[in-house]
Amino acid sequence: MLKGKRLGFIGGGNMAEAMIKGLLSAAFIEAKNLFVSDPRSERLDSLHREYRVKPAAGNRDLVDKSDIVILAVKPQIIKDVLLDVRDGVTGEKLIISIAAGVPIKIIEDTLSDGGRKSVVRTMPNTPALVQQAITAIAAGTQVSKTDMKIAHRVFEAIGKTVDVEEAHLDAVTGLSGSGPAYVFLILEALSDAGVKMGLSRSVANALTLQTVLGAAKLAQESGKHPGELKDMVTSPAGTTICGLHTLEAGGLRTTLMNAVEASTLRSKRLGEMALENDNAGCAEKKKR
Ligand SMILES: NC(=O)c1ccc[n+]([C@@H]2O[C@H](COP(=O)([O-])OP(=O)(O)OC[C@H]3O[C@@H](n4cnc5c(N)ncnc54)[C@H](OP(=O)(O)O)[C@@H]3O)[C@@H](O)[C@H]2O)c1
Repeated sequence: MLKGKRLGFIGGGNMAEAMIKGLLSAAFIEAKNLFVSDPRSERLDSLHREYRVKPAAGNRDLVDKSDIVILAVKPQIIKDVLLDVRDGVTGEKLIISIAAGVPIKIIEDTLSDGGRKSVVRTMPNTPALVQQAITAIAAGTQVSKTDMKIAHRVFEAIGKTVDVEEAHLDAVTGLSGSGPAYVFLILEALSDAGVKMGLSRSVANALTLQTVLGAAKLAQESGKHPGELKDMVTSPAGTTICGLHTLEAGGLRTTLMNAVEASTLRSKRLGEMALENDNAGCAEKKKR
């Protein structure tokens, strides 16, 4: 339990909600110490109804009320948001960004008034909803060890954490930040395949979910290389090698590697856009 501190989210969207739900389910903080600001009052009402979190009267009000401020708005508007609240960001407040691509330097420079600013940049993912997130954490240039520990505690309440150099956070975004969506697509495809082969949807879903969960848990708990685990279930001239051959022919490995690369590049671009206020889509990355 985080005692004696109040935590606020600027932006009450999907990721803020995932974190709020995870933090409350883990009993890490009481709802009376959780604040949210968002331009849509109906969104604030719904978060209050669902989780009893406190709506703030605006971003500046939220900063005034919070010891820890989580920046949970889209990367493109981070700079404007920081400019609006910078007068309230004293050196005692811990600023945690979860925004894809936005460099720590932009946050520190925008908040700078000559005093120390405690900034941490992170990349969580949506399994925070069920306390199974993985969050990569990079320290700002002026953050204290105590504040880094607090940041770890916040994200450990909703899953696991790893420390990374800031330069690696775009790759983290491409892998684990966007990763749940890749896995959901794979789950849907496997379930569809089961249905195509004659299984009922509910049986296909149950088989798919437990297979993916079980395989991930086996890989995690055994510590064995995935290739070794694959070899263990692949008998000569058996069924699995036929399935694997088809996956290789379809370019599954390359497709997944391309997906992570595309998402990483998009994350980098979002960081640049945070400086430029540019709203171009991800297709333009190919031209660069
Ligand atoms: N979703 C993920 O899986 C994931 C994972 C890791 C990190 N992230 C990062 O988390 C951040 C939020 O992503 P998200 O998916 O939660 O996006 P989202 O659902 O769009 O949430 C952003 C929220 O911020 C609100 N907002 C807009 N302008 C604001 C302002 N000036 N002040 C305060 N709030 C404002 C938005 O309201 P409107 O909808 O009315 O504009 C929306 O409710 C992003 O930076 C993203 O890179 C997301």
